[in-house]
Amino acid sequence: MENKLIVALDVETAGRARELFAELREVAGAFKIGSQLFTAEGPQLVRELVEGGARVFLDLKFHDIPNTVAAAGVSAARLGVFMFNVHAAGGGEMMRRTAEAVREAAESEGLAHPKVIAVTVLTSASAATLAETGVAAEPEAQVVRLARLTQASGLDGVVASPLEIKAVRAAVERTEFLIVTPGVNPSGAAYDDQRRVTTPAAAVQAGADYLVVGRAILGAPDPAKAAREILAEMQEQ
Ligand code: C5P
Repeated sequence: MENKLIVALDVETAGRARELFAELREVAGAFKIGSQLFTAEGPQLVRELVEGGARVFLDLKFHDIPNTVAAAGVSAARLGVFMFNVHAAGGGEMMRRTAEAVREAAESEGLAHPKVIAVTVLTSASAATLAETGVAAEPEAQVVRLARLTQASGLDGVVASPLEIKAVRAAVERTEFLIVTPGVNPSGAAYDDQRRVTTPAAAVQAGADYLVVGRAILGAPDPAKAAREILAEMQEQ
C-alpha cells in the first residue's frame, strides 16, 4: 500500500530541511515544500531533494491569470515534483489551462506527470473570512462547489480539511479524485490556527488519500518516532 504520510517541511533553512529528510526518508511517503522554505531556499533545494529520492509536494498554491499559472505549473513539472497545487478560486479556465499545459509539457519533454490539485477553502477560513471577501457561503458549501469545479476542470484532486472529506467524496464522481488533508494531529489536539482537526485514523477512514503533518512531527523530540506512530495510527482501521 502506498505510504500516505506527507511531512510538511515548514522550516527556515535548507540545512534543517536536509536533516529532516535524512531522518524521515524511510518513514514519510513524501515531503511538502511550502512558501516559507521555497521563498527562503528556492527551486535548487527542491531539485536537490528530488534528486536525493524524495517525492516532493510543492505547496505554492498558485493563483494568477491562467497563462501565468499554466507556465508556473510547467516549471513545477520540470522540477520533478510529484504533486503541486493551485487555488481553485482562480477559476475553471486557470485550472484547465494548467492541467493541459502540464500534460503537454510532460509528454513532449518526457517528464513524470505531476498530480495537480487545488486548494478549495483554506482550513483557517471561517464563514466570516469568506464573507469579508464577498463570498456569501458556509465554508463546507464553498468547498463542495470548488471541488466540483476542480474535477470538471480536469485536475487530480483537492486539499480539504478533515471535516470536509466526506462532503467532497460525496460531491465528486471520480473515485480516484485525490483528497489531501492537513489539520491532522495524533492526539486530535488543535494548534491555534487549526480550526478543524482530526486524528490520522479518522482522516483515512473518512477517505483522505494523503495526510499532511507538520508540527506534530517537526516539533517532537524524536521526529522519526513521531512519524512512525502517526503511520501506525493511519493503518488502525
Ligand atoms: O499544523 P501542521 O503543522 O501539521 O501543518 C502542516 C501543514 O498543513 C502546513 O504546512 C499547512 O500548509 C497546512 N495547514 C493547513 N491549515 C491549517 C494548519 C496547517 O492547511 N489550519
